[in-house]
Amino acid sequence: MSELKNKTAIVTGAGQGIGREIALSLAKNGANVVLIDISDKIFDVLKEIENLGVQGLAVKCDVSKAEDVEKAVKEAITKFGRIDILVNNAGIYPFKPILQMTEEDWDRVLDINLKGTFFMTKAVLPKMIEQRGGKTINIASIAGSMVGYPNLAHYSASKAGVVGFTKAVALEVAQYGINVNAISPGPIQTPGTEAIGLTKELYEQTVRSIPLGRIGLPEDVANLVVFLASDKSSFITGQNIVIDGGSTIL
Ligand SMILES: NC(=O)c1ccc[n+]([C@@H]2O[C@H](COP(=O)([O-])OP(=O)(O)OC[C@H]3O[C@@H](n4cnc5c(N)ncnc54)[C@H](O)[C@@H]3O)[C@@H](O)[C@H]2O)c1
Repeated sequence: MSELKNKTAIVTGAGQGIGREIALSLAKNGANVVLIDISDKIFDVLKEIENLGVQGLAVKCDVSKAEDVEKAVKEAITKFGRIDILVNNAGIYPFKPILQMTEEDWDRVLDINLKGTFFMTKAVLPKMIEQRGGKTINIASIAGSMVGYPNLAHYSASKAGVVGFTKAVALEVAQYGINVNAISPGPIQTPGTEAIGLTKELYEQTVRSIPLGRIGLPEDVANLVVFLASDKSSFITGQNIVIDGGSTIL
């Protein structure tokens, strides 16, 4: 599988869950991958990527900090000379009822999920424009882009924002042959969802609400990312692609 051979990809939130799987899938398809995360887990993912025979780079970076982001992208360009694929995946989803939500809660979620996407995109686009091509893929969510989720008002606002951002940027950079798309997953089993207590009971309840009868896996999202990162998606831009086992068509 060498669909993405000689391409360089950046994946944020690559230390675990969906981001880790995206990074591995891009690597399996031949891409060199820059792993960005606040967690040291990226160093383990780096080893896994190198074992697949491609090159990697792990950079500790908080996507909500412009300075961190600019440094990380510079490091990536110094090592690989180009950036073909950017996957804005880093995100948090702390549950909080609206009446208990503080300004700090709100800012933290918006800063990582939405402002982080803006910072990363802004840092990477000059290189993609210079190259006259590139693929930017933003991980949104059905929460916000398709449906409401209680106790996730800040998260839903951030992900609806990611979809609006995707469409606006897609229009601005289409002239350079750059595709910008969003993916909205439904419930996906990850360390993050396990940490917020997706208990067996809640898990079964969630599965009952999914027409395809199972919870999503990180690979489901990663497969779509590989397609959107490849030349096969060259006529798709500004879209929000839902991947949720049919839960939002009920
Ligand atoms: N799991 C789901 O059900 C689901 C559904 C829809 C959308 N999503 C979205 O998919 C993405 C990944 O979700 P997941 O379930 O794999 O999450 P996760 O919590 O398992 O992993 C998220 C990763 O992002 C990293 N991260 C957090 N803040 C960061 C920051 N400021 N800078 C850099 N890295 C940071 C974490 O360290 C972690 O490694 C998120 O954007 C999430 O909103 C997840």
